[in-house]
Amino acid sequence: MKTFTAATINAPASLKHAGLMRWVAEIATLTQPAAIHWADGSEAEYDRLCGEMVDSGMFIKLNPALRPNSYLACSDPTDVARVEDRTFICSKRREDAGPTNNWQDPAEMTATLRGLFKGCMAGRTLYVIPFSMGPLGSPIAHIGVELSDSPYVVVNMRTMTRMGSAALDVLGSDGHFVPCVHSVGAPLAEGEKDSRWPCNRSTKYIVHFPETREIWSYGSGYGGNALLGKKCFALRIASNMARDEGWLAEHMLILGVESPEGEKTYVAAAFPSACGKTKFAMLIPPRSFDGWKISTVGDDIAWIKPGKDGRLYAINPEAGFFGVAPGTSEKTNFNALATLKENVIFTNVALTDDGDVWWEGMTKEPPAHLIDWTGQDWTPDIAKATGRKAAHPNSRFTAPARQCPSIDPDWENPAGVPISAFIFGGRRATTVPLVYEAFNWNSGVYMAATLGSETTAAAVGEQGIVRRDPFAMLPFCGYHIGDYFNHWLKMGRAIAAKPRIFCVNWFRMNERGEFMWPGFGENMRVLKWMVERVRGRAGAKETDLGWIPEYDDIDWSGSDVTRADYEPLTAVDVAAWHTELQQHADWFASMGSAVPKQLDLKRELLGLRLQRDGAR
Ligand code: GTP
Ligand code: SPV
Ligand code: MN
Repeated sequence: MKTFTAATINAPASLKHAGLMRWVAEIATLTQPAAIHWADGSEAEYDRLCGEMVDSGMFIKLNPALRPNSYLACSDPTDVARVEDRTFICSKRREDAGPTNNWQDPAEMTATLRGLFKGCMAGRTLYVIPFSMGPLGSPIAHIGVELSDSPYVVVNMRTMTRMGSAALDVLGSDGHFVPCVHSVGAPLAEGEKDSRWPCNRSTKYIVHFPETREIWSYGSGYGGNALLGKKCFALRIASNMARDEGWLAEHMLILGVESPEGEKTYVAAAFPSACGKTKFAMLIPPRSFDGWKISTVGDDIAWIKPGKDGRLYAINPEAGFFGVAPGTSEKTNFNALATLKENVIFTNVALTDDGDVWWEGMTKEPPAHLIDWTGQDWTPDIAKATGRKAAHPNSRFTAPARQCPSIDPDWENPAGVPISAFIFGGRRATTVPLVYEAFNWNSGVYMAATLGSETTAAAVGEQGIVRRDPFAMLPFCGYHIGDYFNHWLKMGRAIAAKPRIFCVNWFRMNERGEFMWPGFGENMRVLKWMVERVRGRAGAKETDLGWIPEYDDIDWSGSDVTRADYEPLTAVDVAAWHTELQQHADWFASMGSAVPKQLDLKRELLGLRLQRDGAR
């Protein structure tokens, strides 16, 4: 066994941070890497690592004439999405993790991790990856350092965060960082050939220690399991920081709406994984919305802090998009496709014969032949016969945010952008209307706390099952969800200029199982109504749930949606809502006593309103 010290960890000569050096030496001694590399975040380093991954078979370089400077990685079939049942919040007390998180005693978990990480980087390089969540040096940003044995993680982190020497400079000699340790859990014996996508097929642990603000991830190389700045830090750990410090860390996109008169309104929207955040954040209004512009601040995570003026200000802590590929087309998300022109890492999509990429829903007609994400031949006939998808349903692109044509001029403004509305939405075939506005902040918190959505391919497990996904944070809240609800209620009391709260559902279906709402760019009609509500200019009718726009309150220019189409989209089905409320009650009951009384009262009130209407 080799013992590493500050002198043998290959640190840059300029590094003065003794604590960081000690920690790297400690982890290297535990994991026994063959080499240590400090990522500087340069283009040369990126190119070198990508080249090495091409040589090892992990990356395929795409045709530079079609997709310059871009690569395709295809993962092990056992490592394709977040693993929620292997994700742990190890607070000292079980009740602090709450009923929605897996919990283990921190001392026991530490012992387990010590065992797993012992020698786990043998034969591999340990990469030291310093990164900033948020603009470098900004007062709202936070620094993390990920130690990983995956070069795939290094290059993805360069796109997704501000990564490298500049982040180390911010850290100085004694700055605070969130330590993140990651291993694919596949040590290499002397002379052993590496697999194309190293990971540990049987053992995975995604572990958070909220009190010491530490992250340990073992066994997976995929997405949120491995790019630890994203869900692990910017949501699970940051939600703990936010609760303690009086701000919000949320699974939200941030977008700006500009009217033809140049009036700008920012909103933040929480939809569960693979439920439309990236699409909504980059929306292009219908042609008839002359002069209306949407700009993108972020597509997945928002850090939101109260400003001195009593408003809430949001920043996007990320620097890139790790977006869902399937269903992304010129029609559903033109701006995403424009963002993907170059400098992209694709994971688990299909390879075309001319060295480009394809996924289901990219074009109307699939190519005649592809190599699918599992490396097999794929043709439309094979797909018909076997049902095999060319791209994995949770295949993703990693692309720099600055390449997005709709990126907002203030997307890197360290002060953030002022938020005028929060939008919550799930994937619900029934019950939930297209849109409604909560009567007030606390009613909005109730609706968000009871948000339901059908499960998607973004997490391993059965799909299409309605589950409660409060605030779209079920897999991401790093402490007791009841305390989190309380934190939202508290924030409402603390801020003078409260954003309005809306709920949307783009996914309501008719009896034939077809979406009733065209969605995507057409969502602009609903967004415009919400903005006009914020500005006090749009009408609505009062319903049991909240304020719902009447047909004439929505701008239908250039649309063929009729009054008759609209009615079932916004109908409040009283019987279905009684069932829904029972599910809310069961859901709260499953959380024990930690649910704020205020929210129970909201449910009772809603029940009484529905009863009155049901009887009428
Ligand atoms: P994560 O990155 O997992 O957090 O997901 P996301 O919320 O950013 O998901 P994304 O915007 O990529 O949407 C995922 C899928 O939802 C799309 O590929 C579409 O199939 C579907 N979707 C998004 N918006 C709409 C919409 O307005 N209508 C319909 N019917 N489907 C939509
Ligand atoms: C999600 O699942 O919500 C994502 C993808 O945004 S991942 O980063 O893998 O969590
Ligand atoms: Mn997400």
